[in-house]
Amino acid sequence: MTGTISQSVVSSPITDHDIAAAFPHNGGTPDRGQRLVLARRLQGYYSAYLAGAEAFEDIPRLNEDPQIAAIEQAWLDWEDAQVDPGLLPEQAGEFADWFTDLRDRHVQPEFCQYLAQEATLEEIALFFLAEELVDSRFDDLVALAQIGATGTSKLTMAENYWDEMGEGKLERMHTLLFEHSAKYMRRQLADHAVNLADLECAEVFENANLVLLYGIHRHLAPRGLAAMGVMEYSAPGRFQAMVDGCTRLDVPADVIAYQRIHVHVDADHGAEWLDNVLVPLVNRSPAALREVSRGALVRERVGTAYYDQVWQQMKALR
Ligand SMILES: [Fe+2]
Ligand SMILES: [Fe+2]
Repeated sequence: MTGTISQSVVSSPITDHDIAAAFPHNGGTPDRGQRLVLARRLQGYYSAYLAGAEAFEDIPRLNEDPQIAAIEQAWLDWEDAQVDPGLLPEQAGEFADWFTDLRDRHVQPEFCQYLAQEATLEEIALFFLAEELVDSRFDDLVALAQIGATGTSKLTMAENYWDEMGEGKLERMHTLLFEHSAKYMRRQLADHAVNLADLECAEVFENANLVLLYGIHRHLAPRGLAAMGVMEYSAPGRFQAMVDGCTRLDVPADVIAYQRIHVHVDADHGAEWLDNVLVPLVNRSPAALREVSRGALVRERVGTAYYDQVWQQMKALR
């Protein structure tokens, strides 16, 4: 038996108390169960919001649901409270080195080594499918990021988008390649009686929700650009580890194609994103520098929590 990570809209009422338990003030420990309920709720909302035109009758209006707005604000505030202001760069001139340091430490070398050398096929499949909430719509995330950009910045993101489109070849479209591999990975879990729905956790949803939150709400655009920059840069090492792990486990070549493509493509995306998108943006104003830097640090926290949690769940399959 298997399932997919739930993307359905759950509409039971959420109280202020639920929100406060999930995102406590003053350094309290978040209630993980509540955190999952709220993260799942946001994921359902974002998925419905980004649905295709044919689903227009069910697409929610932006900012019309006060519960969604309350969850988003509480989450944003909680994440900002986790950021140590002393870690933020003070001058735009420091930003490129600062960002390079951050993304260099966000590559999870131990986790990558585990994927490459130790993980079982079920563990690899679990990680692959945990990535689904992001990777299955990465092209839309790039599309959202491009809005309002101009010149070289827009062109850089357009090139990234064109890569997502398989450079115009349907069979090389990244989301289609991902879905092809996901089918194989779902079968692996089903064959081993792993139910993906049992493994749902707040960290997996929040990892996906963060870039959706930043992408959908235009005033958070600088944070979205920073988060995407961190993700692109840190991806190649993990993709290489997945290629190595899958090869070790005799996964068919067509299933590994998705990961193989990203080893090189994302290395280019990560470098160009910094030089052409983020550096010009932070040079515009101290406020833009602050937003971009906060976005990068929040992405680092959310991403690290996600990899730690998924790794634990992988090892629990043994
Ligand atoms: Fe891609
Ligand atoms: Fe990419």
